[in-house]
Amino acid sequence: MDKVARTAKLTPAALLSQFALEVSAGLAKPGQKELPSKYLYDSVGSALFEVICALPEYGLTRTEEHLLQLHAREIVDQLPRPVVVAELGSGTGRKTRLLLEALSRWQSTWYHPIEISPSALAVLRRELRDINSISIVGFEREYLDGLREVAARRSPGEHLLVLFLGSTIGNFDGSAGSDFLCNLRQMLQAGDSLLLGTDMLKPRQTLISAYDDPIGVTAAFNLNLLARINRELGADFQLQQFEHLAVFNERTRSVEMHLRSRSRQKVAVPEASISIHFEKDETIWTESSHKYSQDELISLARHAGFRPEAQWMDHSWGFAENLWIAQ
Ligand code: AVI
Repeated sequence: MDKVARTAKLTPAALLSQFALEVSAGLAKPGQKELPSKYLYDSVGSALFEVICALPEYGLTRTEEHLLQLHAREIVDQLPRPVVVAELGSGTGRKTRLLLEALSRWQSTWYHPIEISPSALAVLRRELRDINSISIVGFEREYLDGLREVAARRSPGEHLLVLFLGSTIGNFDGSAGSDFLCNLRQMLQAGDSLLLGTDMLKPRQTLISAYDDPIGVTAAFNLNLLARINRELGADFQLQQFEHLAVFNERTRSVEMHLRSRSRQKVAVPEASISIHFEKDETIWTESSHKYSQDELISLARHAGFRPEAQWMDHSWGFAENLWIAQ
């Protein structure tokens, strides 16, 4: 089958004004200032994230890739066919490749990566174009908007497999992860499947080392968010006046990344029409990374309308690949 590489786009101006609105809302918030973690991933942030994935202290990506190397065939052999694959967030495609290659033993496959970063989509198309019998149509969209489009295009009799790998679900705060899974389920038909990667609870010190590595890659990844606001919204953040912080919140079972102000200071963000005051030691909360327990995964699946069908677990790092079927 011909390989297709098309992309549905949001205009750059629309993306920029959405960024400005969200920055302004997050930094003007009374109490804890915050910024949405999705903005960590511009081209610099995505490149730094790739380096994080190679760090010895950050086992998450390596472990998931290993699980898929071991079990991709077994996973796809459990799926009803024919199946159309949609992926929420795309990464470099290394993990996806394992699943698509396993699927291509059985069928020609439409693969729809859904991703707001155009550069990540372009990398992915380049990386996966040599797989036999795969047709790629990417969507430069927020996850659920893209999934809605994929679901609307499927032909009668086709099943949908949604890939949500890398424990990105853990980056939704509080009940947002559970709400997201409920909304995702609404876009599926009974019998469709979700392959969900989840990082499991592990000792606090292992987590802190993973999110505050000794050579400072994660710190650079976090600080790049302020650099991005400077670049794109004309802000005057002095990066050396902020420091990276990773803390484990026992109540929410999440690692939180913050940027802590080293001094009392004022920062202007002209394109977002705001000027913000920081007290010394005040933080901007930039990301949460929730860690899961087994019981929690089962109740999350059921609550969202899925049957937990199978699970592949790595016990040495603590990571689970979960196959859920829409009920
Ligand atoms: C993308 N996401 C699953 C990563 C995580 O572990 O929560 C993002 C990350 N942040 C710092 N290091 C990695």
